[in-house]
Amino acid sequence: MSLQPDFIHEFVPGTSNRTLLLLHGTGGNERDLIPLVRGLDSRAALLSPRGKVLENGMPRFFRRVAEGVFDLDDLKKRTNELADFVAAAAQHYGFASDKVVAVGYSNGANIAASMLLLRPKTLRGAVLFRAMVPLVPESLPDLSSVCVWIGAGSEDPIIPTSETQRLVELLRSAGADVTIRFARAGHGLSNDDIITARDWLKKLGTP
Ligand code: MLT
Repeated sequence: MSLQPDFIHEFVPGTSNRTLLLLHGTGGNERDLIPLVRGLDSRAALLSPRGKVLENGMPRFFRRVAEGVFDLDDLKKRTNELADFVAAAAQHYGFASDKVVAVGYSNGANIAASMLLLRPKTLRGAVLFRAMVPLVPESLPDLSSVCVWIGAGSEDPIIPTSETQRLVELLRSAGADVTIRFARAGHGLSNDDIITARDWLKKLGTP
């Protein structure tokens, strides 16, 4: 594994032991979520990579065939690549690799969920805004020490409620402690999402 993190990224040192891994949505970049997550946790270090896949010029974390239809080979490859990047970045910047919590939105939440399922040791927890089931792994990982908060939109035109429930059930069947919250919102984030995710992160404690 290369020690040099090989994604375009931002790293912002923190004053607690926690590192938030920020994963933007389609068309975003490494700077997008930084102001938002400062409202979630003002003390954590931030590691924010830019997705390497371009869809009509828009950065993403993995390829898709159509909206909600994923290229599973690419997803698996990109998930491993991202997990390796997080491990390399922990060595490079000197943050604790066992205290990383992902904060992902849409495409970023989907690759975070994929990391939970395929590379479960990468994340201590995850805040997933507008996530779907990225894939169903051949065997379930042990997520019994992982806490996940899922923020769904009750009027999301892209992600039906049943899809959110499927993700909750998949993660719970792997042993994860999952909190699900429906905001009265669409695919975009609402204030309610931010406030409830912030309160959940506070309860998770600052390592
Ligand atoms: C995805 O491709 O990950 C989902 O369709 C969400 C999106 O990016 O629009």
